[in-house]
Amino acid sequence: MRTHILVPTALLLLGACTLTACSDGAGVVESSPARAQAGPSSPGAPAVDPSKIKGLEIVSDSSEHGSCPFAVSYPKVPGARAMTAALKKDVDQRLATFRSSRCGSDSTAVGELNISHRFLAASGDVLGVRLTTLDSSGAGNPRTAKSYWYDGKDGAYHPALDLVADGSRNAFVAALKKRLKGREGVDPALLDEAFADTRDLADLLGDLSFTADGGLRVHVAPGAVGGAAAGAYVVSLTEAATTPWLSPFGKRAQKQSEHPGDGLDLGSTRTPAAVPTHTASADDDTDCKKVKCIALTFDDGPAAPESASLLHHLARYKARATFFVVGQNVATHPELVRAEARAGHEIGNHSWNHPDLTKLTSRQAASQLGRTSAAIKAATGKTPTLFRPPYGAVNTRVKAATTLSPALWDIDTEDWKYRDSAKVARKVIAKARRNSVVLMHDIHPTSVAAVPQILRTLTAKGMHFVTVSHLRATL
Ligand code: NI
Repeated sequence: MRTHILVPTALLLLGACTLTACSDGAGVVESSPARAQAGPSSPGAPAVDPSKIKGLEIVSDSSEHGSCPFAVSYPKVPGARAMTAALKKDVDQRLATFRSSRCGSDSTAVGELNISHRFLAASGDVLGVRLTTLDSSGAGNPRTAKSYWYDGKDGAYHPALDLVADGSRNAFVAALKKRLKGREGVDPALLDEAFADTRDLADLLGDLSFTADGGLRVHVAPGAVGGAAAGAYVVSLTEAATTPWLSPFGKRAQKQSEHPGDGLDLGSTRTPAAVPTHTASADDDTDCKKVKCIALTFDDGPAAPESASLLHHLARYKARATFFVVGQNVATHPELVRAEARAGHEIGNHSWNHPDLTKLTSRQAASQLGRTSAAIKAATGKTPTLFRPPYGAVNTRVKAATTLSPALWDIDTEDWKYRDSAKVARKVIAKARRNSVVLMHDIHPTSVAAVPQILRTLTAKGMHFVTVSHLRATL
């Protein structure tokens, strides 16, 4: 696992709504009014710009292989060490369990693990993050979510229930039960049982967040009060109902959600890596009919400082490459994507948070790609034309959901697996053929470190490094 800078994730997976219930694809069931929580742009959710969180890094790990499909990430905010530790513990645990059951050579298990994050609040001295997990490798509800809160004033990590004052929990729980009673799928016996033991409350009510108008959204854990298939039940409380129950920290978190300040600085001392300033014309006159061309591609970024280092390597050899970026990373590091485009590289779309698109509905797949293209356009001024499906998984439904052209590869370095620079370089150099498309990942420092040797050796062999679109256009 490594660290790179990232973004807020969103629950972008909107599903079908009825008059009484609305599922957002994250297993959330909202009673009327049907209003799914869909991300920063969804009505009611506070908008947080992760590029304004000082020193934000993202710890991420992912594979690019359908035999072991996982993509996990969580934010690491300088000054919020206790919260990072809680996030790390949860993510590491889930990833280790998934990999041991799913990714062994003799494993017959199926399913995918995707853990994405989204900022609930990040201003003043309040930080709130929701991790959404999709784990389709086991039984039970595949989608769960948990929110994590951090009080920069006290330097304390808080599970979601700490937003509610100790002395108000009974009244709060009574109100929730009242709101849940009679809802479709809620089992009255389970409802009583679920709330009976106060020691279980922190898990049961592990996902609380504020709306932009100061209300509280309570996600009751999937299966706790009804069939797991029903997903999480959401109770939305108004600001007036919520405020009397809040703890002092809860009140500050509410305020920062309702009236967010401009960014968050919890005491970062890290100096961010300088953004490279190379420029190159978008036109490339390399004639791949006459010379040997090869297209290097880098997925899952942008990441800092790796993507910046990579730009320096590429500039030194006047090499062009294609970056298949993940939307949630673009939102945190638009300046790096801008630098990649300015240096003459191609920017392609690699989805918002790296799910297997073939497992999504057409609408969800379109949302994954559409949001990412919009983020790329916002960063670079240019809409991408290519997408690389995570895990290389694409079907006619996914293709029909987008106007982007799928771009796969023919040389897989499997660099995500072994994280060894010498091996990455060796593999690329040994397998490189004229007009090949090579798959690497610039979130791994080991892959970026392999690039100078790749460029040096292949340049000496007469290879020219071009973008995927250029390769396609000139063949
Ligand atoms: Ni990928």
